[in-house]
Amino acid sequence: MNKLNTDEILTKDSHLIQSFANLDGLKQMDARTAIVGADGAYVTDSEGNRLIDGIGGLWCVNVGHGRREIIDAITTQLQTLDFYSTFYNFTHPSAAQLAEKLAELAPGNLNRVHFGNSGSVANDSSIRMLHHYNNRLGRPKKKKILSRIGAYHGSTHLAMAMTTPAYSDGWDTAADGLVHHLRSPHAYREANGMTDAEFLEVLVEDMLDAIKNIGAENICAFIAEPIMGAGGILVAPEGYHKRMRAITAAHDIKYVADEVVTAFGRLGHMFASEDFFGMVPDIINIAKGLTSGYQPLSASIIDDEIYEVISGPGAMFLHGMTYSGHPAAAAAGLANIDILEREKIPQTVRKTGKIFENALHRLSDLDIVGDVRGSHFMMGVEFVRNKDTKEAFTAADNVGLRIAKAIQKRGLIGRPLGNILILSPTLILDEAMILHIEGILREGIAEVATELGV
Ligand SMILES: Cc1ncc(COP(=O)(O)O)c(C=O)c1O
Repeated sequence: MNKLNTDEILTKDSHLIQSFANLDGLKQMDARTAIVGADGAYVTDSEGNRLIDGIGGLWCVNVGHGRREIIDAITTQLQTLDFYSTFYNFTHPSAAQLAEKLAELAPGNLNRVHFGNSGSVANDSSIRMLHHYNNRLGRPKKKKILSRIGAYHGSTHLAMAMTTPAYSDGWDTAADGLVHHLRSPHAYREANGMTDAEFLEVLVEDMLDAIKNIGAENICAFIAEPIMGAGGILVAPEGYHKRMRAITAAHDIKYVADEVVTAFGRLGHMFASEDFFGMVPDIINIAKGLTSGYQPLSASIIDDEIYEVISGPGAMFLHGMTYSGHPAAAAAGLANIDILEREKIPQTVRKTGKIFENALHRLSDLDIVGDVRGSHFMMGVEFVRNKDTKEAFTAADNVGLRIAKAIQKRGLIGRPLGNILILSPTLILDEAMILHIEGILREGIAEVATELGV
C-alpha cells in the first residue's frame, strides 16, 4: 500500500471516514495528509516530507516509531499464538504476564486488570464494573457519575456522556441524566483573577454541592484525567486531586483516574496519579502509551476491594470484548514497558520534559500567545487576539488550524483544537530537537499573527 502515490491514496481515501474531522472540509483533497512511514521521532508523508511527530501519533507513540523490539515481539507472538480470547476459562501467557506486570507497576492495591481495545472502552468498562459492584452490594441506585467540563473520556456512548458536552454538539449521548459535569479547573478562563488556592476552594465547593444535591447514595464514581488533554490541556490547581480523592473517599464514591494519556512516561512516571499527584485512585484506566500505539490495547486496573465484590460467590462477569488482551497487543505492551524501564524513559522525561515545557513557555513573548500550559510532554498553547483582555479569536479566524498548517509546512505536526495548539510528542526528544521545535513554532505563530493582523 505504501507504493501508492498521493493522488491514488486520497482518491481511495474518499471512502474512509476520518475521526473528529470536518468531513465537508476534507472533501478537498489538499486538506488531508497521508502518512506513509515513521521512524524515531519523525513521520514521512506521501510527498516524501519528513515531519517531526509533535503529537506522538495521538498522544501515544511514547517510545518513538519503528522500535524493532516491539515489532519483533508482535511478530514472534503471532507466529506462536495468533489469537485466543480471554473469555470464559481461557487465558494465554502474554495477557497473564502483562496483567501481572501492570499490577506490579500500579500504585496501592490496584492489582486486577481487565483488558479492552481502546481508552473509551476502558472508561466504559470501569463504570460497568462499578455499577455491577454497587448492585452486588445492594445499592442499585448508586450509579451516577461525576465528571468535569473540559474532560475527554472517549467516544463510545458512555465515554462521550462523561466527556465535556462541547464534544457532542449535534450528537446524542445515551446516558441521559447519568452524568453530572463539575466545573472545569481551567484557570486561564475560569479563575477570574483568583489565586490558585482560592480557585481550588471554588472547585471543591462545586464538588461538595454536587454531592449534596445528587446525594452520595446515588453517585458511584468521580472520573478525572490527571491533566485534561483533549479539552485543551487543563491543569487543575495544586493539590486538587488529593482534595478530590479525600472527598470521594469520605462519601464512598470511587475515584476513577483516566490515565489514558498521562501514564507510561508522558509526565515522567509510569503512572501519574500517585507519583505526580500524590494520591491513589480506586481504578486507573490506561491505553495509548501502554503499547506506544503499536497495537490497540487498553486496560482498567481495579482495586482488590472492588475485585473481591465482583468476584464473590455467585458473581458472573458479564462483560468483555473479543480482543480483550489480544496476544499480539499484550506482547506489544510487554515489549514497550520493557523499553520504558530499560532505557529509563520516564526518568529522562523528568529532565527533557522540563526543557520542552520551558521552551514552550518562552513563546509567551509572542503577541498572540495568551497562555502556555501543561506539563512535561503534554503541552498546549492558547492563542488570543488581545493578551490583556484575553479576547479570543473567532471561529472564522481558524487560528489553531492556520498555525498547525504553518508549522507543518516547516516540518512539525501539531494538533489544532479551536484556538489552542496541542503538542504531545514522542518521549525521545533531546534538547537540540526541542530547540528546533521551539524555532518552528516561533516562526509559524509569527507568520499567522501577521496574517491575522495582530
Ligand atoms: C484521556 C483520554 N481518555 C480516553 C480517551 C479515548 O481513548 P480511545 O480513543 O483509545 O478510545 C482518550 C483519547 O484521546 C483520552 O485522551
